[in-house]
Amino acid sequence: MLKASVLIGLALLCVGTASAAEEGEIRLMHSGADINNTESLQRGARNFMNYCSGCHSLKYLRYSRMSADLKIPDSELVKNLIFTSAKPFDEIGSAMPADSADWFGKQPPDLTLMARVRGSDYIYSYLHGFYADKTRLWGVNNLYLPGTAMPHVLYERQGLQKPVYKNEKDAHGSAKMVLAGVEPMTPGALKPEEYDQFVRDIANFMDYAAEPIKATRQSMGIYVILFLLVFFVFAYLLKKEYWKDVH
Ligand code: HEC
Repeated sequence: MLKASVLIGLALLCVGTASAAEEGEIRLMHSGADINNTESLQRGARNFMNYCSGCHSLKYLRYSRMSADLKIPDSELVKNLIFTSAKPFDEIGSAMPADSADWFGKQPPDLTLMARVRGSDYIYSYLHGFYADKTRLWGVNNLYLPGTAMPHVLYERQGLQKPVYKNEKDAHGSAKMVLAGVEPMTPGALKPEEYDQFVRDIANFMDYAAEPIKATRQSMGIYVILFLLVFFVFAYLLKKEYWKDVH
């Protein structure tokens, strides 16, 4: 029974990975975000407030919780991170009015849980995925979210990329061009590795925002396992003691 269910589980896993590989030729990049790196989280918070909070809210997170967790002094918080009329105890709102969907064709979504839904690798990739496309409203498209309504807000930092196409045969054998990736076109203010770090910090911060307790939960997990291991030794000795006269 156990064997059968393990086999079924393995088979399902194989089917799952196979179809995932077929669907998305373009793979996500690896963010390398580290939730235990407080400095990175602080930089990420600053980047987010400066470049993203104009359009996106983090409505399940309060400024005060963020500053406490990320060890940001109150004076710094009020001076450099709150750009609206909000008070430290308020949720992190955006400067966007509710009807801004008219401006972009889509309302910029709240991003509190985005990293939990899509993962920090996705956010890292998405912010690397903008490329020039004159047919789009903002002159850019995105490798990871084709037809995105979001402008390339980090354009000055990253510069502009252009699409790279490759020839592929479809099911009927006729050739077609498919998008294979992007390559740099015009440079931005940051060097590529600086931009990587800039975006990694944002992805890291969004990972934190999605689950502020994550770092604590993970370190707590290690203690719980250690406790269980030690407990196991005592439980085993106790069991031996109880059973020693039975045989
Ligand atoms: C000028 C407004 C604006 C700014 C500034 C902005 N965004 Fe967006 N963003 C949008 C809009 C509009 C969408 C909806 C896009 C869509 O669904 O096509 C969006 C969608 C997203 C999504 C969701 C993508 C998905 O898969 O659904 C993420 C993640 C995101 N933005 C991250 C960011 C980050 C990080 C920043 C800061 C670096 C930022 N955005 C700055 C307007 C903005």
